[in-house]
Amino acid sequence: MSNLIQPHGGKLVNCLVDEARAKALTAEAGSMTRIDLSAKQSCDLELIANGGYSPLTGFMGEADFQSVCKEMKLASGDVWSIPVLLSVDKGSAPALGSKVALFAPNGTLQGVMEVKEEFVHDKALECTSVFRTDDDAHPGAAQVKAEGDVCISGPVEVLTLCVDPDGDEAFLDRRLTPAQTREAFEKKGWKTVVAFQTRNPIHRAHEYVIKCAQEITDGLLIHPLVGETKKGDIRADVRMKAIDALTEKYFNSAATMVTVLPAAMRYAGPREAIHHAIMRKNYGCSHFIVGRDHAGVGKYYGTYDAQHIFDEIDLDNLGIIPLKFEHSGWSKTYGGMVSFKSFPKIEGDIVFLSGTKVREMLEGGERPPAEFSRPEVADVLIGAAKEGKLFV
Ligand code: ADX
Repeated sequence: MSNLIQPHGGKLVNCLVDEARAKALTAEAGSMTRIDLSAKQSCDLELIANGGYSPLTGFMGEADFQSVCKEMKLASGDVWSIPVLLSVDKGSAPALGSKVALFAPNGTLQGVMEVKEEFVHDKALECTSVFRTDDDAHPGAAQVKAEGDVCISGPVEVLTLCVDPDGDEAFLDRRLTPAQTREAFEKKGWKTVVAFQTRNPIHRAHEYVIKCAQEITDGLLIHPLVGETKKGDIRADVRMKAIDALTEKYFNSAATMVTVLPAAMRYAGPREAIHHAIMRKNYGCSHFIVGRDHAGVGKYYGTYDAQHIFDEIDLDNLGIIPLKFEHSGWSKTYGGMVSFKSFPKIEGDIVFLSGTKVREMLEGGERPPAEFSRPEVADVLIGAAKEGKLFV
């Protein structure tokens, strides 16, 4: 019996088939309807297959979709906040009972699904409940609105976890499955592990909240999201280099692990904070960091909305404990990192740089100040900017 937190729903799902079955499915796939997955759908399929989305065993059917949108629960009653859908164009919806071949964006046969159910993709419901907006300027809502009108679901068999093993963002030695991170935690003797989600270059406020959290758990999993992100975000390979530069010098390697999460960003703020937490529970983590405007974009969510939403769900069922952190930054008066929870608010005291400002500085070859970014991290970012390889 493991000392680690149980997976969501009680059991880690595994939809990856063995080599013989993969061969047989590849041979059969030629006669199946072909579905070309988007990058987001391909990421979702990997997480269904590797157990990151436990207890899901396939793309959602209508009962789960409706329940997730309206109640933030699966039909089974387990907490779930983000629909995981496979939508197709109306005209190309395959026959019920047929098998479809699911191809990743790079043309790899990723999986096979038996179509058990078809239902209307209620995009208005999805956008207003998940993103709290159907504004085209919201990247997550715009993506949903561009997706197919019909959703199909059914059991999946997955042939390969990483569809682009030679790609810049494969990180094969770091692409641990939930079963593998759990095994690694057990080996290290960790019972409690705090996970840190990130999609931005690691900065000093990140470092501060991570270190605060690390004080109360046995181990730390820095778990950057490396699936699809929006244009203009910083590339995952650059972010990984920055994390390595930081952790090598400033973290205790015996208490720290860095592996990647092959998920796509939705930019759904509060709803996505719960989604991020559930995945990390499946990876074996007991605690999850939620700071300011977690998974937010633009001005769609309040600074602490992604923390307040945890008051609306059954925390016992969620299991993983959200660790909520105030907006943090470098205080000139204090000469160190603070948050307003522990340090008085003094006008103009905190060194604050917006994401846009930092991007502009890097593009111009200018270093962000050491109070914002460790010099080792700034070197990585400036280097990537010089090579024109900073942005997605
Ligand atoms: S996110 O989309 O993954 O949330 P980001 O990588 O910037 O974006 O943030 C990672 C985590 O750090 C999130 O939990 C976020 O709320 C938190 N965070 C980012 N900046 C700060 C800050 N200045 N103070 C406190 N928490 C922060």
